[in-house]
Amino acid sequence: MHYKRILLKLSGEALMGERQYGIDPIRLAEYAQEIKEVTDKGIEVAIVIGGGNIFRGVAGASNGMDRVQGDHMGMLATVINGLALQSALEDANVPTRLQTAIKINEIAEPFIRRKAMRHLEKGRVVIFGGGTGNPYFTTDSAAVLRAIEIGADVILKGTRVDGIYTADPEKFKDATKFSNITFEDVLKKGLKVMDTTAFTLSQENKLPIIVFDMNTKGNLLKLVSGENIGTKVDN
Ligand code: GTP
Repeated sequence: MHYKRILLKLSGEALMGERQYGIDPIRLAEYAQEIKEVTDKGIEVAIVIGGGNIFRGVAGASNGMDRVQGDHMGMLATVINGLALQSALEDANVPTRLQTAIKINEIAEPFIRRKAMRHLEKGRVVIFGGGTGNPYFTTDSAAVLRAIEIGADVILKGTRVDGIYTADPEKFKDATKFSNITFEDVLKKGLKVMDTTAFTLSQENKLPIIVFDMNTKGNLLKLVSGENIGTKVDN
């Protein structure tokens, strides 16, 4: 296998499947299977999940809500998604632990780096909920932060699009996909991979990011086997 320890970033919206809101149990079960294929190969998997299918702090703020309140609601949304994903993974017989950046001890373990690493070594999938635990930070930032903390080899950012394009492929038919690109070129070309805070944190720590389509079955396994799918951002 190409990687030993990965951090998988999933957006909350991805869990909606065909729905407009909330969680699609079929999609959730599909993701659990994809993740199981990878853990079955002995890869250590940590996951950061967003909360946009339930609540987005930024959207709340644009509707006049206090930004910090909105972000707190968004953090709770990621915990809900984390619980759902944990449940789906356990249905698929994948042992998991959910750790949260905000303390909700009755529901999940608090984030403790050393404990998270021990879980990973024991073959448990560790889901990190609650983002970074701070308002004004995205779950992409949480993904990069946790990936660095636990010494992940790579961040795999699962999206609806199969990589990074010269322009938005959903709007421009002639847009072409990069298979590899440097952090510097992403910035120079003004391409959008993650928000700036998350992106520069990854760059400064030389942590590669691979953007790929999580909705195509088998993609996750192909990636960790070293197949060149999606777009890899590297130094
Ligand atoms: P090892 O001791 O390394 O084998 O890990 P473990 O996770 O099996 O042991 P632990 O006794 O820490 O946890 C047992 C179960 O309790 C696991 O499902 C944990 O996720 C859960 N757990 C541990 N700490 C907390 C906590 O603070 N809150 C909640 N809600 N659950 C916890």
